[in-house]
Formats: sequence, structure tokens, C-alpha cells
Amino acid sequence: MKFLITAGPTREAIDPVRFISNRSSGKMGYALAQAALDAGHDVVLISGPVAITAPRGAHVVNVISADDMYDAVHANLAGVDIAVLCAAVADFKPARYVERKIKKRDGIPSIELISTRDILASLGALSEKKFLLAGFAAETNDLEKNARIKLTKKQCDAIIGNNVSAPGLGFESDENELTIFLPDQTSRVLPRAPKAELAKSLVKILCALQQIS
Ligand code: PMT
Repeated sequence: MKFLITAGPTREAIDPVRFISNRSSGKMGYALAQAALDAGHDVVLISGPVAITAPRGAHVVNVISADDMYDAVHANLAGVDIAVLCAAVADFKPARYVERKIKKRDGIPSIELISTRDILASLGALSEKKFLLAGFAAETNDLEKNARIKLTKKQCDAIIGNNVSAPGLGFESDENELTIFLPDQTSRVLPRAPKAELAKSLVKILCALQQIS
């Protein structure tokens, strides 16, 4: 099967030296890519800026901003069977990019923010979607409620709720705790474990869901 996986953060430039971004090391998305490759699948990995090495054998597309990631995802959909959007995409970007470094001596700037395009929702809205679509939801509270809102709003086949409330879980860490929420109101908990192990289980579960979809 062919996986398309997004990973890492995006950066939304304010001026040539500053940006706004989200927390994400890329570890979860890269672990998924590795697990899919290990299971014999093809992988397109669309990655924001991270400091870790991409798994050998993945077709890696490096991007910086949410707009770049949106374009790269849509340009790489051919033949995809399973799309897993694990990236921590910035929800907002500056309305205006300032070409020259903003000078501190000019005072604190007001930065107007506008929404980025939602990549996951854009895939959910495709009329002829031939792949299984899974998104992530990193939540500090009300995991099920918030994950299910995303599942419905973004028209996914699965949302992987990521508990980021405890130290050592979620962003940047080597361990995670996940719950897979499905449209039939069922869910499945993958208890705290190294990201590599969770990724292995997740790849198996997503492949099984793809077969029955
Ligand atoms: O990279 P690590 O350090 O290992 O951390 C992993 C992680 C915690 C970042 C990851 O497991 C995770 O939970 N990623 C989702 C982060 C998040 O909170 O996303 P969100 O709730 O803002 O978005 C929900 C879904 O929509 C995600 O699949 C996201 O990729 C997608 N999205 C969001 C905004 C946007 N403009 N486009 C999108 O596609």
C-alpha cells in the first residue's frame, strides 16, 4: 500500500528572521513512516522543518509553511491508499510578510493573523476520495469530545487523539498515548509506549481499516 504521511511543524514567516510555529519534533510522523516502510509499504513523507533524519526509503518532500504543505500534499495524492496527517500545522499565519527585518527600535509591532488553509479538511472534502483519511488531534483536555468534533468537521475516516497533558507524552518526547476514534462511535486506546511501537500498531490498524473501507 502507499502511505502519505505529514510530520513536523510548519513555520509562518513574519519577516526574514522571525516566524510563528507549533510544537512538534516530527518524531511521531517519522515513526509512522518508518513503521509503514518496515511493513513493506511505500511512503511519501511530507515534512515541516525538523532536526531528525528521515527514514531511508521514504520519498521525502520538505516544506516550510502551511501553504507549502497544503500544495505538497495535494501534488502527491496519486495512488495513495492511506493518508495520515500527523503534522502540527500552524492554524494562523501573518496577514502580511514584511520584506525587511522589523526593527526593535520601531516599537512592538502589531501582527494581524489570518487562518491557514486546513489540509486535512480539504482532503475530507474531496468528492472522489480513494484513500483512507486519518488525522491527529493533540489535546490537553476533553480528548474524546475534541477529537470527535475534528472527526466530523474534517470528514475523516479516523482521528487519532493524542493525549499531550502529561509530562513525557506527545510533543518532542519519545513516548506517546493514543486513542483512535472512528465514525461508528467506537474507539481504541493504544496505551503509553514508545512512539515506534505505537506507530507499528497504528500502521496495522489503519491497513485493516483501509481494507474494509
Ligand atoms: O512531532 P512530535 O514531537 O512527535 O509530536 C507529535 C504530535 C503531538 C505533533 C502529533 O502526534 C499530533 O498530535 N499532531 C496533530 C497536532 C494538532 O494538534 O493538530 P490540530 O488539532 O491543530 O489539527 C488536527 C488535524 O488537522 C491534524 O491532523 C493536523 O495535521 C490537521 N491540520 C491542522 C491545521 C491545518 N491548517 N491543516 C491540517 O491539516
